[in-house]
Amino acid sequence: MENGKIKIIVEPIGKRIFLNEPTGGLKAIIDAGLGIKSVCAGKGTCGKCRIVILNKEKKPASKQEQEILSPDEIDNGVRLACQQIFDRDLIIYIPSSSLSEEQKLQVTGEEKIIEVDPVCKKYFVKLKEANLGDLESDFNRIKSFLKKKYNLKVNSIDYRSLIEMPSIIRNNSLEITVTVRNDEIILIEGKDRTKNNFGLAIDLGTTKIAFLLVDLVTGKTIDSKGVMNPQVSYGEDIMSRLNFAMQSQDNANKIQKVVVIKINEAVSELCRKNNLTHKEITEMTIVGNTAMHHLLLGLAVNQLGLSPFVSLTNDSLQIKAREIRIKIAPGGYIFLPPPIAGFVGSDHLAVILATEIYKKKGNYLGIDIGTNTEIVLKSKKVITSVSTASGPAFEGAHIKYGMRAAPGAVERVLIDSKTCIPSVQTINDIKPVGICGSGILDAVAELLKAGIINRSGKFKADSDCVCRDSKGEFSYILAPSGDGNRRRENSNILEDGKHSTPRCGEKDISINQKDIVEIQLAKGAIRAGIEVLLEHADISFKDIDKIIIAGAFGSYIDPKNVIDIGMFPSIPLRKIRQVGNAAGVGAKMILISKKQRINAERIAKKIRYLELAEYPGFNNHFINGMQFPAPDEII
Ligand code: FES
Repeated sequence: MENGKIKIIVEPIGKRIFLNEPTGGLKAIIDAGLGIKSVCAGKGTCGKCRIVILNKEKKPASKQEQEILSPDEIDNGVRLACQQIFDRDLIIYIPSSSLSEEQKLQVTGEEKIIEVDPVCKKYFVKLKEANLGDLESDFNRIKSFLKKKYNLKVNSIDYRSLIEMPSIIRNNSLEITVTVRNDEIILIEGKDRTKNNFGLAIDLGTTKIAFLLVDLVTGKTIDSKGVMNPQVSYGEDIMSRLNFAMQSQDNANKIQKVVVIKINEAVSELCRKNNLTHKEITEMTIVGNTAMHHLLLGLAVNQLGLSPFVSLTNDSLQIKAREIRIKIAPGGYIFLPPPIAGFVGSDHLAVILATEIYKKKGNYLGIDIGTNTEIVLKSKKVITSVSTASGPAFEGAHIKYGMRAAPGAVERVLIDSKTCIPSVQTINDIKPVGICGSGILDAVAELLKAGIINRSGKFKADSDCVCRDSKGEFSYILAPSGDGNRRRENSNILEDGKHSTPRCGEKDISINQKDIVEIQLAKGAIRAGIEVLLEHADISFKDIDKIIIAGAFGSYIDPKNVIDIGMFPSIPLRKIRQVGNAAGVGAKMILISKKQRINAERIAKKIRYLELAEYPGFNNHFINGMQFPAPDEII
């Protein structure tokens, strides 16, 4: 409990709720502004307000919950929010099925036109009837047809396809379609299905998973979807998840299972929406950081979770999807491009591929901001990458009123420097519930420009724009709980004419000193990563031709504010480009093009990984990076 208050962490949106006294679960969630379904208005009969209690200690299910929930659900911590009393610190998970509004997840990015030449291709085959004079096996006759008609050499057939083959051939008058991957037949279907070949490109992020459903004949993305990574329940950052998996095999299995279930759910939904069957998805490419890669595949992570953080492989892998219980075509494959080094994974490689940084002339920086921020510099024909621990502050974690980008999150902030009154914009334009990453970043930049905080990030004690919270710490109110501006209303004039600092309201959405320090730590880590890369390449920020910002968070931030707080060096805005989910685009390129798959493997071998912890002077860069620029340095 924090300061006598009950703290409820709500996943997957990362919202913190503070309660002064034991409160009904449904009420606490609704009062916090979160949209949870409650069709029966809390009577405990509709079952719509399901939540999962993630704490080890769970109270027994009530009689009402036992009637609505299955024994399996109860064992797994599922409860009804309306039947719970939040009387202790809890971590709860609200499944998307219980949320009335979905989280904002960007899944697409800027695409390049490339030749469509996937590894998995479909061929129409018309076989001749076998007779006593021609006793060739079914498989041999398919092989001969493919060789003769398409000049294609096939050597093997997937076991499941072999089982299904005879009936499919004979039930379809000897007219079939075979899907060939390299030299293996991985799927047999009746009639001509050559136009129905689909694949999925997946960006498996620590927080979010992006899916692109791709037509492998045309190369077009026909649908996309973003979901939260359910592993968030086992830790918001990579290290907590690795620690959880390292504790026992049972834990490792659990953390693998939840993500596999989530992927299967998303595949089913995309198939349903687009009138496809799972069978028509013949291949998946999945990119992600090394921890996500290992946890998905159920690989040992002990060597990855402890210094010197070694991955099991730096090669690409191709496995049958069924090996990890992912449901696509029975013989379908998952292709995983190579992780780079340490935690820098194939998502970073996919960004480099999609943005074409690897072939740029001049000095290009590519930055994918996340809990770990990967930065690449292409300079003098050398590609160098670093990973910097920027922490989850931009995901709203460790920020008092922080949350992820869900409805009600403050995403834009402007502060009138004369009146110090803020204007905020929330996602879906509803009443503010908390602050997401782009809002926090804006707020800090605006506080700095309005002179409410100084270069060291400290609130100016003589500012009448701030209030004091219950602990006496300074805060700035972004969204007062009432209608008016509390700072002005409550500002007391003392006898000597000075203002006393008013108290912040309990329910005001505010930014406090600790929040600013969290942002300083995050932006300091990113700036230090940039400085190390520049220093290592012996160039200065004036030599940078372009900064490419990849990733969902990167596409929502205001580049000017990023420069104003000193996270990026002061370069003209025209040199900054936001490209959206480049990792997803890279995964798609690897899915639809053999050439790009080979290209990605070649690039992976060229990337030089620089370990920041070993780099002399990193700490100095980090400390300097935490400072904000002086007012005259702000462009
Ligand atoms: S609101 Fe209907 S069961 Fe909880």
